[in-house]
Amino acid sequence: MNLTRLVYYSQRNLSEDLNIQELIETSKHNNQHLNLTGMLHFNGDHFIQVIEGGRLEVSSVYHRIARDPRHSNIILLSFEGVRERMFPTWVMGLHQGMDSQTRAAFLRYFATDVVDPESVNVDGLLDVMQDLMATPPAKLAINI
Ligand SMILES: Cc1cc2nc3c(=O)[nH]c(=O)nc-3n(C[C@H](O)[C@H](O)[C@H](O)COP(=O)(O)O)c2cc1C
Repeated sequence: MNLTRLVYYSQRNLSEDLNIQELIETSKHNNQHLNLTGMLHFNGDHFIQVIEGGRLEVSSVYHRIARDPRHSNIILLSFEGVRERMFPTWVMGLHQGMDSQTRAAFLRYFATDVVDPESVNVDGLLDVMQDLMATPPAKLAINI
């Protein structure tokens, strides 16, 4: 089965309730059965999600997610075969918020911390996503 990685960008739909913890629990439950892994970044306004797994599974979960009314303006940034998973230990990791550490991660790879989905470089975005999942929350670093 061809290992595939998908990346998309979407905007939160403010007219729909969103319980992000509940969403992650459902995602983890479903993704586990399908051997899917990945991460979801939510800054309060938009989502960036990376989903990895079999081509069929990634494609079908993406089509389900794309119909979800909790977000809109979904832009598919990448769907490609890959040799290895980037988030093998995350059934669906969540990174939430836009604190100074998150901004710094974006600024490490991009000229600004504002992601323009029409022009963003996906490899750079994946670098940011990996940094966000690897870096402990800023509060843990206080007093070091
Ligand atoms: C931003 C976003 C990301 C989501 N990610 C996933 C996911 O990774 N896996 C998943 O199964 N559902 C995900 N969902 C939820 C699906 O849209 C859908 O509600 C869910 O899969 C339905 O599952 P159920 O039939 O078990 O209730 C996501 C929804 C949103 C809005």
